[in-house]
Amino acid sequence: MSKEIVVSGIRSTGYLHLGNYFGAMKNYVKMQDEYDCYFFVADYHSLTTHPDPKDLKANVFRVAAENIACGLDPEKVALYAQSDIPEIPELYLLLNMLAYKGELEKVPTFKDKVRQQPDNVNAGLLTYPVLMAADVLIHKAVKVPVGKDQEQHVEMARNFANRFNHRYGELFPEPQPFNFGSELIKVPSLDGTGKMSKSENLNATIYLADDDDLIRKKVMKAKTDSGPTEHNSEMPEYISNIFLLMHLVSRQETVETYRSMYNNCTIRYGDMKKQLAEDMVAFIAPIRDKAAALQADEDQLKKILKEGAIKARESASKTIAAARKQIGINYY
Ligand code: TYM
Repeated sequence: MSKEIVVSGIRSTGYLHLGNYFGAMKNYVKMQDEYDCYFFVADYHSLTTHPDPKDLKANVFRVAAENIACGLDPEKVALYAQSDIPEIPELYLLLNMLAYKGELEKVPTFKDKVRQQPDNVNAGLLTYPVLMAADVLIHKAVKVPVGKDQEQHVEMARNFANRFNHRYGELFPEPQPFNFGSELIKVPSLDGTGKMSKSENLNATIYLADDDDLIRKKVMKAKTDSGPTEHNSEMPEYISNIFLLMHLVSRQETVETYRSMYNNCTIRYGDMKKQLAEDMVAFIAPIRDKAAALQADEDQLKKILKEGAIKARESASKTIAAARKQIGINYY
């Protein structure tokens, strides 16, 4: 039986962080043996904010290197740059004819961007979910490993797939967001508000490139209070976030120990944060060092991305040929 197809991407803006790891990359690595996987660096998506051309290549190579450092094996998956696959923008154009201005304007991530950057509400930002749908549908993916924040975008990809199928005949399966823990996750920031992010909450986000001392400094600054005064009391969100982060990087017994100390009011948050900081350092240091070594070997990264693009184009060219034919672009 053929393997199920998986697609996911990471935008090459800013540095990757624990949210990207636990929301997406950890799943990529677990999926690479059982599925037919296409993972890419979403460099076209990064252009909505007009990055300096000088930085683009280093950003793309860093995201690729960090993915490999986290355990992705380019022999097992297609790892490529989105802009190396011309079939993606072609499908994006075709899907744009099926995407309506009204629905795109209602997307919460679009509305957030309009609020954050009112002087740069470009058409690429509005049609961002259509490009994402093209990324996913170009390989006829059925599973899309993403964090909670991308759930609605995958739902839109499903809508566009259905619309195409209804109008032009069956071509695309319905892609579903995916996480091994069954629920999609949101890794919170350390300051008790919002999530870890490449462009916001920088001091409350742990990046995969952070050095040991910076990790310690950020964790020790996490918001806490003087501790619970009643047994088994409910946790404020900023405390439950610290437990959630500990659950991601620490041993289960460590989490249990601090949880019972919380429940019997003997917890000392300073000690808990020290422990969390050391566990984060132990988790991140090998990834950071491996990613740095890979980034120093540009020839190797070029080779990996080129080979990834060949694999991805093989699949993409079949899909775009079928889409063109079904639409009626089939003249000669
Ligand atoms: P991006 O680059 O912002 O994030 C990459 C992946 O990391 C996940 N993520 C998180 N998960 C949990 N907690 C967090 N704090 C957190 N922050 C980020 C994201 O959900 C994502 O899975 N538009 C996409 C990139 C993209 C894409 C695609 C993804 C382009 N085309 C097609 C899937 C399929 C983005 O900007 O993700």
